[in-house]
Amino acid sequence: MKHQMVIVLDFGGQYNQLIARRVRECGVYCEVKPYTTPLEELKGMEPIGFIFTGGPGSVYAEDAPLCNPEIFNLGVPVLGICYGCQFMAHTLGGRVTAAQADTAREYGKTKTFFDTDCRLFRGLPAEGVTWMSHGDYMAKVPEGFSLAAHTDACPTAAICDEARGFYGVQYHPEVNHTENGVQMIRNFLYEVCGAAGDWTMGDYCKTAIREIREKVGHGKVLLALSGGVDSSVAAALLAEAVGKQLTCVFVDHGLMRKDEGDEVEAAFSRWNINFIRVNAETRFLVKLAGVSEPEHKRKIIGEEFIRVFEEVGKEIGSVDYLVQGTIYPDVIESGAGDAAVIKSHHNVGGLPDYVDFKEIIEPLRMLFKDEVRQLGRELGLPEYLVRRQPFPGPGLAIRIIGDITKEKADTLREADAIFREEIANAGLDTEISQYFAVLTNTRSVGVMGDGRTYDYTLALRGVTTSDFMTADWARIPYDVLDRVSVRIVNEVAGINRIVYDITSKPPGTIEWE
Ligand code: XMP
Repeated sequence: MKHQMVIVLDFGGQYNQLIARRVRECGVYCEVKPYTTPLEELKGMEPIGFIFTGGPGSVYAEDAPLCNPEIFNLGVPVLGICYGCQFMAHTLGGRVTAAQADTAREYGKTKTFFDTDCRLFRGLPAEGVTWMSHGDYMAKVPEGFSLAAHTDACPTAAICDEARGFYGVQYHPEVNHTENGVQMIRNFLYEVCGAAGDWTMGDYCKTAIREIREKVGHGKVLLALSGGVDSSVAAALLAEAVGKQLTCVFVDHGLMRKDEGDEVEAAFSRWNINFIRVNAETRFLVKLAGVSEPEHKRKIIGEEFIRVFEEVGKEIGSVDYLVQGTIYPDVIESGAGDAAVIKSHHNVGGLPDYVDFKEIIEPLRMLFKDEVRQLGRELGLPEYLVRRQPFPGPGLAIRIIGDITKEKADTLREADAIFREEIANAGLDTEISQYFAVLTNTRSVGVMGDGRTYDYTLALRGVTTSDFMTADWARIPYDVLDRVSVRIVNEVAGINRIVYDITSKPPGTIEWE
């Protein structure tokens, strides 16, 4: 089934992904395309609407991003956001000027007044807060347009040409700070573009399964499974599509969390696939012995992972297809170009070049993270797999500061399990985006019973974030931290002091190494 499609034309704005996510959340499929995409290609995609994103520039700048003005003659509605709005106004005969510092230049939350007769604002309050971020403003609107919203400083906060279905807003409806912003996008999609809301995960799932079957035929498929959300969902999808033709390889490097290897195995050995678990703890620990420099640890693990994967690949022999869990943000961030090969190396820590495959299959390539989770549910993956917090490829190796030994890994596993259990008991596991324990290489003096101890300090880390690019430290209640601390010091030998990491990202990173 072909979905209706909206094209988010990217003029270099910082929120382009967010716009695309909002459109998908409204039940409409969309793709982000660079503004340089040839008009014929855009036309061929048969969009029901365009959304022009913001951008860093001014329409008058020498290198201003401009697309073919014929786009306005396709008979397809357009919503221009910020720069996208100015580009539309400029191209259709309006006038955009640099705002004077004290007049129409606006940044941040701004009280805005809407004309609720305009289809974009239909059914919404006549007043609300919008998130502005523009230096230029529209001094004259193009012919055929009328004013649809204003602020105290700017008479042209939104413009519309209802007949042609052209709308422009100076603010960012896609960010949470704009009240009813998503509703405005929804109005554009449903009231203006005539969207049917045909983007559902159930449909996507059926279509993806059919397409994978057509492509793979009787070929052999290989997938590196980590137990993380993306590779798990990709595995479930492929399992559904091609069953026994699929082999999932789970390389257990011995640096997983407590019981994790067994959980991954239990979850996947039930599927109708060939599942191979390689227990490679010893060889990883031997390679890591005595190494404490973080980047060196990562390189060793990446390299050893490749070696193990190569060996399994050789045993299976003549693999036709390789499955990658690449998701849409990776595709967008790499410029929407053909990034498949780079990603394949990046995602699984580098795959062997020699593996004899015809093609890489990336079934999640067009999905956002939340859609991947939805697809996982659609495929019947258990909730604990679908909702998993991220876990880094190098595993506990980068949560043990200094050199790594099996004893330290075991100690950290126990402590981390207690922390996770208490967070879950407190009902905080869905609120905190990522939480884990770090075994530092600092030892300190303590007293237990009547005796002196000289043991390791354990750091607890909890962060809230939506994108993992920036993060705030989680305000875990003191009583929860207290329970965790008491339990760990009592139940885990070798740890006598607990600290809580109160550093945000930036300046810290989420992981310690
Ligand atoms: P940082 O520490 O850079 O982490 O703030 C951001 C997010 O990425 C995860 N992370 C990794 N994930 N392989 C992965 O698959 C890695 O090597 C890796 N390093 C960090 C980290 O857990 C956090 O969610």
